[in-house]
Amino acid sequence: MKAQLPFLLVVPFDTPLLEQESCLSGNLLGNYRNGYSLQSVFITDEECISSWAAQTESLSAVFTPAVQGFRQLVWIAEEAIDDSLKVPTSEDQLDLFLERLSSPPQAQDEETFLDSNQDVFIETSKDTGFQLLYRGSSAALLSVPSRVALHLDTVLPRFWKSTPVPSFPIEFIPVPPSSIEPVKSVLSNLAYDSSVATIVDSISIPQMRNDIRFLTGEDGQSGIVSRHSFSQGSRVAAAWLKQRFEETGATCRLMSFMQGFAPNVICRYESMVNTTGTVIISGHYDSRGSFGSTRMPGGDDDGSGTTAVLSIARAIARNGVKFHQNVELVAFAGEEQGLYGSRAYANELRSLDSNVTLMIQADMLGYRKPGEPMQLGLPKSIGTPEVAQLVANISALYSPELEVGITPACCSDHQSFHEQGYASTQVFERAGPIVDPMYHNSGDLSDREGFDFDQLKAIAKVQFATVLHYAGFELHK
Ligand SMILES: *[C@@H]1O[C@H](CO)[C@@H](O)[C@H](O)[C@H]1NC(C)=O
Ligand SMILES: *[C@@H]1O[C@H](CO)[C@@H](O)[C@H](O)[C@H]1NC(C)=O
Ligand SMILES: *[C@@H]1O[C@H](CO)[C@@H](O)[C@H](O)[C@H]1NC(C)=O
Ligand SMILES: [Zn+2]
Repeated sequence: MKAQLPFLLVVPFDTPLLEQESCLSGNLLGNYRNGYSLQSVFITDEECISSWAAQTESLSAVFTPAVQGFRQLVWIAEEAIDDSLKVPTSEDQLDLFLERLSSPPQAQDEETFLDSNQDVFIETSKDTGFQLLYRGSSAALLSVPSRVALHLDTVLPRFWKSTPVPSFPIEFIPVPPSSIEPVKSVLSNLAYDSSVATIVDSISIPQMRNDIRFLTGEDGQSGIVSRHSFSQGSRVAAAWLKQRFEETGATCRLMSFMQGFAPNVICRYESMVNTTGTVIISGHYDSRGSFGSTRMPGGDDDGSGTTAVLSIARAIARNGVKFHQNVELVAFAGEEQGLYGSRAYANELRSLDSNVTLMIQADMLGYRKPGEPMQLGLPKSIGTPEVAQLVANISALYSPELEVGITPACCSDHQSFHEQGYASTQVFERAGPIVDPMYHNSGDLSDREGFDFDQLKAIAKVQFATVLHYAGFELHK
């Protein structure tokens, strides 16, 4: 392992830079968003920093103390949101947040977010001391105590998200041409298939309505108040999802990835033909609420994506679908704390050299601003453009009512797979920035103005049709 290097360099993301030989080679800590662009963070030494200073003007170098063990680097960034949601400027919000971070959390606030048997997280600490290492226009790099890093989502400004930055270099793994070729091939041979249409049309809106109401607690029966990754409700949701998926013939496991976090729910349908190829579709079932509130229904974010994936499982069973690749349906946890669940799973798959051929994350599918048409947004910055194109063309075939376009909303669990060199994309509710007024709010219910089950179904159909076309299938009824 490399010795800890003392400097961080934050420069605009540039693929050739990551691939060429330079003093930065092998020193990448990851790529992170700032506004609509991506920044690469490198850990390096003074000499390298100086050589960069001569070559680029877009340079930010900062000294970092040894970041190990009890401290964690985190990147925080503002989400891409519609102007109609904008309140104070990013700068003010960041200052407000840093102020909040300097004052120790109130014990009773913190406890309410936590599972009572996860005492490792209950201990409140006076050590909230953070260091601001880099500040961009709508992003910042901080060093914080590790425990604080896990709770940042509860104190961040509403439209900001955090993601942990490793303290040792990671490998930059581009998606290889051998993973892109089959995507292009399916795209160029794409034609409407009436049996695919029948299967995807069978997704049931009344069923989706029931499912999401269980997850949000709106049904008054599940008892779920919150699906925050550390909450009791997230455990109830995980067990329930596992059961529902198993009823459809999948084999499921709960993947615990870190103490205190609810597990990933990973469910698999084995391929009918002998192949290692695996297609993954997913959503995240953990949620976030308003600052200071314990109610976190997460109806749209991401009860909608989770419900879409579950509706696909139900349609698989209803139609007796058997695939020609392995198909996994996954509900991730830890997304709101910084993609913890999906990173753990993508890392595991990469370390096993798993043949993941396609990955499509569904995050926020249900909200449609009154007056706007139904839409499908595909990511602008993170993901494999060829996969997004395939999804777009499949949408035109099976959900022509959706207006398809690019969204700057970014960085859900597909990012974890993309970072491991797997072909991936995300489906989102809008061909533009986030406009849901209940985003990261305790009022994110499914029964409210703008929550559109027709759009939710239309996007779920596209996600499912992509799997059917890409993996291949037969019907056993
Ligand atoms: C995908 O759809 C676009 C827009 O309709 C079309 O121009 C393009 O030819 C399609 N791509 C393929 C490979 O069929
Ligand atoms: C599946 O394919 C692998 C690799 O081609 C082969 O080694 C294995 O025996 C096959 N398994 C079955 C059940 O046919
Ligand atoms: C991965 O799976 C695909 C799809 O089944 C298959 O064509 C390909 O040969 C597999 N790759 C490897 C390395 O096994
Ligand atoms: Zn989300």
